Amino acid sequence: MYRLNQNKAPIVDALEEFRRHRVVPFDVPGHKRGRGNPELVKLLGEQCVGIDVNSMKPLDNLSNPISVIAEAEELCADAFGAGHAFFIVNGTTMAVQTMILTVCKSGDKIILPRNVHKSVINALILCGAIPVYIEPQIHPTLGIALGMEPDKLRLAIKENPDAVAVLVNNPTYYGICSDVKTICELAHSHGMKVLCDEAHGTHLYFGENLPISGMRAGADMAAVSMHKSGGSLTQSSVLLISNTMDKGYVRQIINLTQTTSASYLLLSSLDLSRRNLALNGVKTFQKVVDMAEYARSEINSIGGYYAYGKELISDAVYDFDVTKLCVYTKSMGLTGIEVYDLLRDEYDIQAEFGDIGTLMAYLSVGDRIRDIERLCGALEDIKRLHAGDAKENPHLDAIHAEVVASPQYSFYSEKESIPIRLAAGRICGEFVMCYPPGIPILAPGELIRAEIIDHILYAKEKGCSLQGANDPRIENIMVLKG
Ligand SMILES: Cc1ncc(COP(=O)(O)O)c(C=O)c1O
Repeated sequence: MYRLNQNKAPIVDALEEFRRHRVVPFDVPGHKRGRGNPELVKLLGEQCVGIDVNSMKPLDNLSNPISVIAEAEELCADAFGAGHAFFIVNGTTMAVQTMILTVCKSGDKIILPRNVHKSVINALILCGAIPVYIEPQIHPTLGIALGMEPDKLRLAIKENPDAVAVLVNNPTYYGICSDVKTICELAHSHGMKVLCDEAHGTHLYFGENLPISGMRAGADMAAVSMHKSGGSLTQSSVLLISNTMDKGYVRQIINLTQTTSASYLLLSSLDLSRRNLALNGVKTFQKVVDMAEYARSEINSIGGYYAYGKELISDAVYDFDVTKLCVYTKSMGLTGIEVYDLLRDEYDIQAEFGDIGTLMAYLSVGDRIRDIERLCGALEDIKRLHAGDAKENPHLDAIHAEVVASPQYSFYSEKESIPIRLAAGRICGEFVMCYPPGIPILAPGELIRAEIIDHILYAKEKGCSLQGANDPRIENIMVLKG
């Protein structure tokens, strides 16, 4: 099935070899295998600090890999079915930004849905590209953004034939997938590149009967969060490219922003996780799917909650990632964030996020059926103790954006801070978002409308963690002067 021997883990082997040699360190990091920082050793253990080392000849260098990192990246590309894989240690944020900085220059247009992660719009600020948003349909009950519809893309391409790329989420945080294959065909037939944000899609490359992965669908680049469903350490990620891309140029773009001191803890975790996924991915993700389906049926049998699945498939939902466990809570008069807080405060259960309408519990191979039973029991309890009447107004989680000026221009323009309640009609100069999911409610260059202010104030009142603005309490907002 694979071209290369996926049992190998070259970075891990090189680290083991390095450990055996007991090399005397006159290089960074200054903790010198932990000897200079006993508290760190107590916290992390000798095994861990002992391989927190810097690049050196036998361990290769992430900025210009020629030996063990190069081999590990080649194995990774083979496992993912990509032309090349780049190991990333600055989070998927950097993988996303590299994709955009590779294909867009200042003033170039890029077609994308508005419900992107903030890293995407941050990249537009960095490179000066202009977003052409395709407004996704919003699910009438759930209030979540659905997929990118090929007909809307066709229209956007017709109106913007000079756009250089299309970016698509595959899947969204909520499990929604678009028809990525058709999107690739449409974009490519107009000379545009396709970039996939697959922060939530590592498993699509390894599981069976899951939505199609970006690389298989024909995308040119994909940013994949190995540290989410792939099991590697937090902050480690992979950028995949197809053979349509210039590997050397992508490496140069990566080196514009990636650290010159890549962590071998992160790199070795990518190497091990790739091996594990290549060897055991099918079994692993079948287990996750089975747990998610079980949790869905248990939660739906409580009544009141709605844990959604494949039945969402429609003209705006091409496919659904059944590993995602999202639960609509507003039907019981509770916001997702209220249920999230109750789970944490009363039941010691940490969910992935709660927003206005949805609670998301992240499932992975690390979960056990007994933990799922605990989650279901807690949700049942919460319903009994806290449920109220369903709210008429769903307070949608996805909001229509009106772009008035480019993100870069707006971010760097002269701005003033005004009370958010008085900001309707002004142009936003900063981000406002709930984190997670990190999808901006407002981004630089967008018109601030009264309904958006209501949405932000409602999210704040309900306890969402609002981020992005200069004023952390979001009482004031930065708007363009004049
Ligand atoms: C859709 C999406 N893209 C990109 C990212 C950025 O990933 P990271 O946190 O690894 O930088 C996230 C983070 O949650 C995300 O949800």
